[in-house]
Amino acid sequence: VKTASCLLFLATLGCTKPAPPVATPAPAAAVETCTAETPLVPGVPGSPGHLVESPLNPNGMSELALLMRRMVADLEAARDVIERGGQPPALAARYQKLRCSWPTRAEMRSKEFDGLAQTYLQQVAEFDEHRGELRDRYANVLKGCRACHEVTCEGPIAVIDGLALRPVSAR
Ligand code: HEC
Repeated sequence: VKTASCLLFLATLGCTKPAPPVATPAPAAAVETCTAETPLVPGVPGSPGHLVESPLNPNGMSELALLMRRMVADLEAARDVIERGGQPPALAARYQKLRCSWPTRAEMRSKEFDGLAQTYLQQVAEFDEHRGELRDRYANVLKGCRACHEVTCEGPIAVIDGLALRPVSAR
């Protein structure tokens, strides 16, 4: 299934490198989350009729697409920190709306999507908690991105693969 929101305009993705974050651990237990039953809120940025203007997507971005962009930026920053031997900040709290954000097409919010979202959020929680195996946990988060994209929209898979940790020689 291909939608405009799955198209990618890669040139811009690599240019805006956020500053490496300072580690500010947030307890994963405190993360409030929504479910597949949580009603979506009309009128919020990225909801139908309120798509967010974006140079990346001429049709405008949905709430879910905005969250995806945030996840990409967070992982780019986390990767930089890990590659330099540091401890990235906890991320799960930032994605608590994954299961209740407006997608571009309403039918995207299916049971299957929700199951994949839960698996992904679990992988992020494990990334936040298991600092000892950070590199493996990071790779596992990317697996969660990929698993969902293989069944929802394949366009961003190149971006996901591009977030992998790099060998020292390739940085
Ligand atoms: C549970 C499913 C799911 C997971 C997990 C997921 N995605 Fe997505 N992603 C989607 C869907 C669905 C869209 C289309 C959004 C829409 O409908 O507007 C999307 C859109 C995107 C986009 C395009 C956004 C745009 O500009 O339109 C990117 C990039 C992306 N995802 C990257 C990622 C990355 C990186 C991860 C992991 C950190 C990830 N995704 C995890 C389902 C998922």
